[in-house]
Order: sequence, then C-alpha cells, then structure tokens
Amino acid sequence: MRIAMIGTGYVGLVSGACFSEFGVTVTCVDKDAGKIERLNRGEIPIYEPGLDKLVENSAKAGRLFFTTDLKAAVAEADAVFIAVGTPSRRGDGHADLSYVYGAAKEIAEALSGHTVVVTKSTVPVGTGREVERIIRETRPDADFDIVSNPEFLREGSAISDFMRPDRVVIGARTEKAREVMRNLYRPLYLIETPIVFTSVETSELIKYAANTFLAAKITFINEIADLCEKLGADVHDVAKGIGLDGRIGKKFLHPGPGYGGSCFPKDTLALVRTAQEAGAPLRIIETVVDINDKRKRAMADKIIAACGGSVKGKTLAILGVTFKPNTDDMRDSPSLDILPALQEAGAALRAFDPAGMHEAEKMLPGILWCETAYETMGGADALVIITEWNEFRALDLKRVKSLLKSPVLVDLRNVYEPDMMATAGFDYTCVGRVSLPAVQ
Ligand code: UDX
Repeated sequence: MRIAMIGTGYVGLVSGACFSEFGVTVTCVDKDAGKIERLNRGEIPIYEPGLDKLVENSAKAGRLFFTTDLKAAVAEADAVFIAVGTPSRRGDGHADLSYVYGAAKEIAEALSGHTVVVTKSTVPVGTGREVERIIRETRPDADFDIVSNPEFLREGSAISDFMRPDRVVIGARTEKAREVMRNLYRPLYLIETPIVFTSVETSELIKYAANTFLAAKITFINEIADLCEKLGADVHDVAKGIGLDGRIGKKFLHPGPGYGGSCFPKDTLALVRTAQEAGAPLRIIETVVDINDKRKRAMADKIIAACGGSVKGKTLAILGVTFKPNTDDMRDSPSLDILPALQEAGAALRAFDPAGMHEAEKMLPGILWCETAYETMGGADALVIITEWNEFRALDLKRVKSLLKSPVLVDLRNVYEPDMMATAGFDYTCVGRVSLPAVQ
C-alpha cells in the first residue's frame, strides 16, 4: 500500500509517521519547501513525544518520504489523505475550507488509477461531498472514491492515540473504498479496535459531536467547581462520585481555567454555526462556548482576588502558558486571555513554560520570560499555576516560599492538596475546592 499525506502539520505528520509504522509507504507532501527540507534532515517542526524517533526509523526503513511534489506523490498513491489546516474563519466562526478545496483541485489533476481520497482534517458536514464535486468537475474521467476518516488524536499522546485508538471511524460510500481503508488499518484488527463504518456525512458529524460533547463535559465540571466553592463542597470528590457511574465516566471531569487548544474552541464554534444554519441550533453548545469564553476573565479575577483584590504594582510569577502540558501549542490557550487581563489590572508578569515560551513570546508581549520555574518567583507577590506540567507538581515548597515576597499560590489546575499547602504555609487558592489560608 502507498499513500500520500497532503499537509505536514500536526495531524498530517503524526498520521503519516504512524501509517508508515503500520508498514504502509507514505509520502508526506507540503507546500512549505523549508519545512520539507527540515523534515528531510530529520528535524521535527512540532513537539510531540516519540514522533522524532518514529520519523527517523520509518525514513531509514524507506517507508516515509517528504516532498513538495504533490503530483508525483498522488499519482502513485492508493489513497490520498487531506490533512491541511481548517482554521476558524475570521468573523463568522465557520471553518475555513479554502486549503481543503485547493488541495482537492490539485489532487484531482494528479489522480492516476483508482484512488481513495480521504479527509482527515476536521471538516464540516458536507465537505466530503464538495471535495467529490470538485474532483469530478476538474477531472470527469478520474476513478476515485471519497472517504471521511477523522482523527481523534490528543496532542502530547498522539502516537499512542493513533496506534491504540478507542475506535476508528470511516465514512465511505463504496465497498472498494472500505476495503482500502481496512487494509490501511490492518494492524488495528489484531488488537480488536472497533472500526465504525458509516456514511461520509455521519462520519464528519461524529468528529464534531465527540469534541463538542467533551467540551461540554469540561464546562459542566467547571461550573460545578464554581458552585462547590460557594457551597464549601469539593469538586474532586464530586467528579469521583459521579464519574464512577459508568454512564458518566470518570475522564474529562477535571476543573480548570477553561478548555483551549487547536480543536475544542474551533470545533464547538464551527458546529454551533452549522447547526444554526441547518435550523437545528445546538443551544447547549452555544452556552458552552459562552461559558468557556467568560471563564478566562473570571480566572483573572480569581487571581486578583487571591492577591487581596488588586494586582496593581505587584509582580506575579506564572508557571505554564500552553493550553495543556506536553505540547508547545499556544493556540487558544487560556493564558492568552488571563495574562493580558492581569497586565491590564497593573501586574508585572514573570513567566516560565517548559516548551511553549518560543511560541508564547510572539503572542504575549511585555512578559519577562525566565529560564526556570524558580527564576520566576524571586520577589514575586504571588505564584500562579496555569498549566499542569509535571515539573510543577513537585516544586520544592520551602524554596518557593523563601523566594516569594508573600506566600500566595493560585493553582488553576488543582495540582496540590489544599490542606498540605496550608500546612506548608501558603495562602492557597484552587478551583472548586476549599481554599485555605496559611497555617501560621
Ligand atoms: C482534543 C481531543 O481530546 C481530541 O480527541 C480531538 O480530536 C482534538 O482535541 P487536544 O486538543 O490535544 O485533543 O487536548 P485535550 O487533552 O483533549 O485537552 C483539551 C483542553 O481541555 C485542554 O485545554 C485541557 O486543559 C482541557 N481539559 C481537558 C480540562 O480542562 N479538563 C479536563 O478534564 C480535560
């Protein structure tokens, strides 16, 4: 089997490398010649644990190639995957499909022999049909089938998500196309991964329904956390108590500063728009989007309150700015709203992130970026944890306390236990649990 992967962004690169690990010969294509050159030198443009080794091994074994030559890659492929970006369109929240449709046209011109054209990027319902129309219009003679095969990869654990997924979803119209897809995913049959075959439109919707459901689940526990604070209840126990009910499930019930990243904010918005236009508005998700937006400002207010009601003229030490740990991705990170709000309120910020600072520097001006977690703390009036990187879970608390001007700790990810922190002498504020003053 031979495939072409169009777009070597996050999804394309991970999927391409993983398919080649499955024994498929993969050619990854990108318009960005610099990126292809770097990949050919073995440099990986994103931070994803294990990806560098995988790319190196597959490239050495002659199963993974990088090129800008779309035509040659498509001509010899049994299946072509479209994994280009689908950013939110400015203004209306719809996904911008110009890259997908542009790729479809270029693919059409290069098709040779029977080829399955697969959309892997998250695309609104109806995109597959439009890709089919574009190809048919460009090349009336082409022998092809369209397939929707959404990815469910989480940044930071994308490789194991690909190799050992909960399920694979394949939307196809013909048996021939299903057979090609079955062959590509053959190794997953050995580990009895459920493969859900469905129509193209249904498959497209499954991806959005999954992501919006998860976004709603996070938002639900975030609101319950706020209620816990008012009532003196503990959200961790609530999450455990409800999560043990198999119908609810214990995952994705961790409260925090609101969801971020490259998928949830974009996909919730896109499905809201699609649903409104279809005349079946998803009012739950509209509310989820609204709550999550407002939550970031509320988190800034929470930090300000923990600092005694004002941060004017104060210095805050910030740990973690990416939207979650184990990634350098800053897209829609809550920190992008929280930190400017703190600056506006008059705070000076010193920040550290293990992988995200390079990206963050461009997006968050006026912050003093530090080399280590401890460097942020010297003389600061409070310490704020925004992203739960592992190294922030085991801080030397004595050292932290000696560095800070006042022992105020705001933990937006509930990394620490309230009673432990109070005993260690911190005025500790967290999310949805009783926050305790320092034990003197
Ligand atoms: C997500 C989905 O998990 C994946 O299936 C989808 O296809 C793409 O989007 P990812 O964006 O990598 O993956 O991040 P994920 O680990 O799901 O976290 C998303 C956001 O939700 C993060 O900002 C995270 O901090 C937040 N989150 C997650 C919570 O606040 N609480 C939780 O319990 C879980």
